[in-house]
Amino acid sequence: MAKTKTTFFCQNCGTQHPKWIGKCSACNEWNTIVEEVIQKEEKRNWKQTTVNKKVNKVQKINEITTTQEERIDTLNTELNRVLGSGLVKGSIVLLGGEPGIGKSTLVLQIALNVNQKVLYVSGEESQSQIKIRAERLKSTNDNCLILTETKTQNIFKIIGETNPDIVVIDSVQTLHTDYIEASPGSISQIRETSAELIKFSKETDTPVILIGHITKEGSIAGPKILEHMVDVVLQFEGDRNHTYRILRAQKNRYGSTAELGIYEMLGSGLREVSNPSEVLISEKDADLTGTAISATLEGMRPLMIEVQALVSTAVYGTPQRSATGYNIKRLNMLLAVLEKRAGFRLGAKDVFLNIAGGLKVEDPAIDLAVVCSILSSNEDEAIPQNICFAAEVGLSGEIRAVTRIDQRILEAEKLGFDKIMLSKFNKIPKNKYDIEIIKVSKIEDVVKVLF
Ligand code: TYD
Ligand code: MG
Repeated sequence: MAKTKTTFFCQNCGTQHPKWIGKCSACNEWNTIVEEVIQKEEKRNWKQTTVNKKVNKVQKINEITTTQEERIDTLNTELNRVLGSGLVKGSIVLLGGEPGIGKSTLVLQIALNVNQKVLYVSGEESQSQIKIRAERLKSTNDNCLILTETKTQNIFKIIGETNPDIVVIDSVQTLHTDYIEASPGSISQIRETSAELIKFSKETDTPVILIGHITKEGSIAGPKILEHMVDVVLQFEGDRNHTYRILRAQKNRYGSTAELGIYEMLGSGLREVSNPSEVLISEKDADLTGTAISATLEGMRPLMIEVQALVSTAVYGTPQRSATGYNIKRLNMLLAVLEKRAGFRLGAKDVFLNIAGGLKVEDPAIDLAVVCSILSSNEDEAIPQNICFAAEVGLSGEIRAVTRIDQRILEAEKLGFDKIMLSKFNKIPKNKYDIEIIKVSKIEDVVKVLF
């Protein structure tokens, strides 16, 4: 019997090592080396029968003719936006997300709605389970084929028979290839099966959507190089207890990574949220203390987001600071600015901050709304509901200008706000907007205007 060959892989970067070592010499990570069984054969091809003898020609850059990459309209506006106006032919898209977040639902929904022949390969659910899900989604497509299979050679055989326009793999961790003996989900299997799929995709110009699991730390399970190999890495995230789900691109060779898709998980599948500002601002009858609305931007899209703060006297010696959806270090910084520049004694107070809707905001323009919500809760005085904020707060308490102010003002106007508070340093044309613009330059001005 042939001796089983094993080798050592780094779980972080996928480098192969001849023996176990504590620290990967390629990426310098500790404790990432695992032993895996491999059995490599030399002649490997996604289509075993045709040996690829074609050699690519070299060309001068000036002579290369460009063609706009062909895109398939997924008929899902939010997904199209994140991908950059559609699914590029011959591209590989990796979709990651926590278990139960809705990856399979999203992809099945697209498979059912798109005007193309889709082969949905599932290694996780049976055909009848997928059918039950499709019934929940209340849509059908004659051109949606379901296959339950995990061996790539068999998948390619079916692809050869059915000629799909789009291939979906749910999930890459269940795949295995005949040429390697390691178990499905291991680094060498993920690497090899993905490489076979990528080769297939590039040679036939068929887009492939790979669903990937993520690890406890939140990165896509498998070697990091998988993310380098694919064209687009999408992350589907959100709080499982909330209904909103956010789709964002971590990497996109064909578009911007700043775009964001928002969905709502309903009993009948994922609904696209096309005007997120309206759903992100909670409805309330009376003015509440500790809330402020910010005009932020996510990618190219303006979003009105509600910031909620609670400031209360600390029960224990060390006050607590907690922030959901906002950088805690930045919160501490803003509290220090309020203490030093505006004279508020927040050092002995607990401060809790929450961005409504389960969003994570990195746009610095939200700073002013954070400051105002904290002040509002601290003073126990509500901020009127007709005002919103868009400015960054600096270390010396100065209110700084933010980019693309025009879009923010227009969104605020569209949603019916009467006033918007901005930095004095933002250049705004006179008489262009109906909304009243309040300009401030220091934290002290903000306090004067509001309280
Ligand atoms: P699923 O797509 O199976 O998640 P993943 O593939 O990321 O593991 O999503 C499953 C969850 O979605 C499950 O908890 C039920 C919920 N769900 C709905 O709320 N509505 C629906 O129409 C469907 C199909 C699922
Ligand atoms: Mg799934």
